[in-house]
Amino acid sequence: MSMTMTTTTILSVLSILFLVSVSASNNPSLLHSLKVPSLSHLSSFQDDLSYSLYHTTCPDVEGLIYRKVKEWVNKDPTLAASLIRLHFHDCSVRGCDASILLDHNGSERSANASKSLRGFHLINDIKKALEKKCPKTVSCADILTTVARDATVLAGGPFWMIPFGRKDGRVSLANEAAMVPMGRETITNLIQFFQSKGLNVLDLVVLSGAHTIGRSTCESVQYRLYDYKGTKKPDPSIDPQYLNYLRRKCRWASENVYLDATTPKKFDTQYYQNLKKKMGLLSTDQLLYVDSRTRPIADALSFESSLFSNQFSVSMVKLANILDAKSQDNGEIRVNCNRVNY
Ligand code: HEM
Repeated sequence: MSMTMTTTTILSVLSILFLVSVSASNNPSLLHSLKVPSLSHLSSFQDDLSYSLYHTTCPDVEGLIYRKVKEWVNKDPTLAASLIRLHFHDCSVRGCDASILLDHNGSERSANASKSLRGFHLINDIKKALEKKCPKTVSCADILTTVARDATVLAGGPFWMIPFGRKDGRVSLANEAAMVPMGRETITNLIQFFQSKGLNVLDLVVLSGAHTIGRSTCESVQYRLYDYKGTKKPDPSIDPQYLNYLRRKCRWASENVYLDATTPKKFDTQYYQNLKKKMGLLSTDQLLYVDSRTRPIADALSFESSLFSNQFSVSMVKLANILDAKSQDNGEIRVNCNRVNY
């Protein structure tokens, strides 16, 4: 009885949070009052984004991008997850400014932390086609966010509308790529990282749900399997059977293993159900079900698939609207996504 009560309460709270965040995304003044913490340098540029920006200057931009993403994902379905991750890594450093795409020496992309990122060739293919149709018009940052949305849809996830007008940044530094969480952080670290971008705990738990698809290199998880934190024992928060599976699967650091062991190719809530069974691949996934600040949210999302997909859209819009004042002020529309214009 009390179990049902608790669940009902959590669901009500989440539904309210969801409704507030939906109405907030449609109501800029409410959005300002909800920001945690208030990051004025991040928010002012969001007002410059517009749904109709390319209506006259590049009318079929979304159609062209969707067709390209579909073509590439049909050829290689593993790309969908990689494209969603690429967008997260872009927005995590200097906002969503395509700084992750620059490939000069010492750029974010060249950093060790970026070495398993994929999908760059697809962005270049789209950019080339767009430069033919509407030269110097569509930013690489806008392409990245649209690609991430379309990849989500093609993986069976939700659709959301995207306002456009992000500028491409001119700075990209390898040491900044190391700030993106890599799976060994504490929940406090993650909450602080998300808050520094204007994202809250609900966004953290919901966006972590992107790990319902895709893979990780074994390199990111091997430390959990044998000698966790110098104990000569595995991470105690891994289910024993799952541990055996991971030890067999991860003999080599370069092997890949699914982030969602149960339904790795379906965009569903199974990721959260796995956490209940101690089957989170990354330590940061599993911790979402251990920490009292995140567990009630993970719990509710595990059996409310419409809540997950609705809130995933809302949180992805927030992620895609992280803009850094400096990158935007000094930004440009790159002609080649891999290089600054001059
Ligand atoms: C909350 C903090 C997060 C941490 C600690 C984290 C960490 C990781 C790690 C370690 C990997 C595997 C890297 C490797 O190949 O070794 C990964 C993969 C992935 N991440 Fe995250 N991530 C986080 C948040 C996010 C967010 C917010 C998104 C998107 C909204 C996301 C989407 C993905 C996807 C889709 C993959 C699979 C990529 C592929 O199959 O190529 N992650 N993440």
